[in-house]
Amino acid sequence: MAMNIVVVANFDSMSAEAAKIVYGQIMRKPNSVLGLATGSTPLGVYKLLVEYHNRGMDFSRVTTFNLDEYVGLGPDHPQSYRRYMHEHLFSKVNINPERTFIPNGLAEDLEAECRRYDELIRQAGGIDLQILGIGTNGHIGFNEPGTEFGSTTHVVDLAESTIRDNARFFESIDQVPTRAISMGIKSIMQAKEIILMASGGSKADAIYAAVHGPVTTAVPASVLQLHPSVTLVVDQAAASKL
Ligand code: F6R
Repeated sequence: MAMNIVVVANFDSMSAEAAKIVYGQIMRKPNSVLGLATGSTPLGVYKLLVEYHNRGMDFSRVTTFNLDEYVGLGPDHPQSYRRYMHEHLFSKVNINPERTFIPNGLAEDLEAECRRYDELIRQAGGIDLQILGIGTNGHIGFNEPGTEFGSTTHVVDLAESTIRDNARFFESIDQVPTRAISMGIKSIMQAKEIILMASGGSKADAIYAAVHGPVTTAVPASVLQLHPSVTLVVDQAAASKL
């Protein structure tokens, strides 16, 4: 198996390992195209990237594509991923806002928005380094179990378990959007290099299935076994079943 597995003690060391990889990527290629995730997992990475920036790291030539956005939430909605990225990274580093891409969850024609997003990624020359978290059900991006490996950016009906997992960010579970736009499995697999991060015991089953299970659409992250350059950065709790 081509996966490079790094097991570290806890969330902070997971964040430090992943941030180091992102740092190296941008040092080697200042105009890198990064694929970014939201949620709890990458928060420590973004914090460290802001610290690196405060010590001189330059983001001015970096381009970013986020994995996903909720349908119906605009950039000002507190739980939109555009807002999340603004708060945790974009407003705190010298990235050019015109080079930060996130699917538009308010697009009238969602199908056209998906095609536009894939085209933007293509025009940028593809993603150099993709950061991924993993859902407790094994999803990557919002590619829920059953998503075809050939999928490009598409509109997703979120799984019940994902709605439950993400309800913690909303006032109540009925406020969690039921749909999202997500980069597809194929879009993710086209990234030149991938980091999959996971922290905590709630991710242990998904990590086990992704790494040692059969490659199956039932566990979207298992497709990563077929990618030539994946680094798994997991803390001990998430790695406890490996
Ligand atoms: C977020 C995303 C999701 C999350 C996953 C884990 O952009 O694409 O796949 O990475 O749901 O979420 P957390 O990190 O909140 O446990």
